[in-house]
Amino acid sequence: EEEKKRHWFVGSVDQGTTSTRFLIFNGEGDPVASHQVELGSLYPKSGWHEQEPLDLLSSVEQCINGAVQKFEALGHSKADIRSIGITNQRETTVVWDSNTGEPLYNAIAWPDTRTKNLVRELRSRELADTLTELCGLPLSTYPSSVKLLWLLQNVDVVKQAYEEGRLAFGTVDSWLIYRLNGGAQAEKPIHVTDSTNASRTMFMNLRTLKYDDKLLGFFGIDKHKIQLPKIVPSSDPKCFGKLTTGALAGVSIAGCLGDQSSALVGQCGFNAGRAKNTYGTGCFLLYNVGSEPVISKYGLLATVAYDFGALRKPVYALEGSIAVAGSGVNFLMNNLGFMEQSSQITDLALEVEDNGGVVFVTAFSGLFAPYWIDDAKGTLFGITHHTTKGHIARATLEATCYQTKAILDAMEKDSNHKLESLAVDGGMSNSDLCMQTQADISGILVDRPAMRETTALGAAIAAGLATGVWSDFEDLREIGQTGRKVFTPQMEPAVAAKLFKNWERAVEMSRGWMKD
Ligand code: G3P
Repeated sequence: EEEKKRHWFVGSVDQGTTSTRFLIFNGEGDPVASHQVELGSLYPKSGWHEQEPLDLLSSVEQCINGAVQKFEALGHSKADIRSIGITNQRETTVVWDSNTGEPLYNAIAWPDTRTKNLVRELRSRELADTLTELCGLPLSTYPSSVKLLWLLQNVDVVKQAYEEGRLAFGTVDSWLIYRLNGGAQAEKPIHVTDSTNASRTMFMNLRTLKYDDKLLGFFGIDKHKIQLPKIVPSSDPKCFGKLTTGALAGVSIAGCLGDQSSALVGQCGFNAGRAKNTYGTGCFLLYNVGSEPVISKYGLLATVAYDFGALRKPVYALEGSIAVAGSGVNFLMNNLGFMEQSSQITDLALEVEDNGGVVFVTAFSGLFAPYWIDDAKGTLFGITHHTTKGHIARATLEATCYQTKAILDAMEKDSNHKLESLAVDGGMSNSDLCMQTQADISGILVDRPAMRETTALGAAIAAGLATGVWSDFEDLREIGQTGRKVFTPQMEPAVAAKLFKNWERAVEMSRGWMKD
């Protein structure tokens, strides 16, 4: 059995905001084959951000087929792939017709701010201030609940499907799992979500891991009219069904985690007090608080970190969510033509010694944690004749580092614990300059693994634990330990403090100045 296990592999779908990938990991947690597809977004109006649900699905299918082809070309057999896991961008909201399995509207992506006025109205409703205690999230444009409500109020076909009891709702995990299992054509359609994803909707009670009537009632959602996904654990051999088509038809889906939870698992952040920061499209810091949720008083979210069902009790995290990180770099590249490839941002930033007095509040979706200013707009401060692209590039990288510092401060207050070291991953963590800046600004050790596909690895771990590739956390001990690089703070604390003060002033000035 042990000998056989040595040859087992686990696949992982990572469906993110700007790309989809599929990676195949061996039992040591090393990726042996992968395939990636870039994804576009639609921005039909200022503040709107949509994606096509069928594109998300076909990108997943393409990635699975592409990676399996490469895997086989290396001489491996796909029969050794025990199961796959799915990890996904969270909050992004999909609605479909349960009779046909077809989407009824574009997916409303997590950074979309069309619900700004709706959120304002919701905040003034009775009981608005009791929601966070139940679900861990503050009322903002971010969670799925407000996106669904907007669809019900504004899109006739969605309203009609709801009235006729054929409206199915889901986050991206639910949508993918449903369709990968054959959708409406399946003998028994599978409509599920795991509790990490469900904890981003505002419909789930954080303690019972079940839909809460008070929360649904607040949003006026009638659970008899809408089909909500069944909430299941993140690691399970049976709940998520099987792939029905493509190169891995017949292989079971055995793990499912929201991408930030998945990165925490991929960094093996299994002990309370461990934290990771993933610099992806946005940037998300998760701090493991153990088996009881901590409701933040300082602008953070409480969320399910992972829920490995029979294996352990659910584990919770405090989260600091930053809406713009890599998407700020993409903005410099795509909208302003600063460079050809996102990785060139570091060279551009290194053309200058410092930010030259430029501060860029990248509030393209308002500001998330710990500020929650939904009417802030992206604002550049401190431009003079001296300013070059290099200064703006630096200011863009620094914006994420300052917000991370603000989140770390909030976390320290919420948890009464000062973090000494922060595990990092995600695209922007490839930049040594950015990671050194993070260490300097926040006065903390920044610890980067050699293998940075930790988000995909987390879902592979969830699936592998459910299907015998690994027996328990002890089996994962060695994963990700070699080749880590640690960045130590080098800046004078007084200089860092001054920079951060300037950032905080800029944040204040970016709020609510434009009437719309
Ligand atoms: O909450 C949104 C988050 O899940 C998106 O992640 O990796 O696309 O920045 P990412």
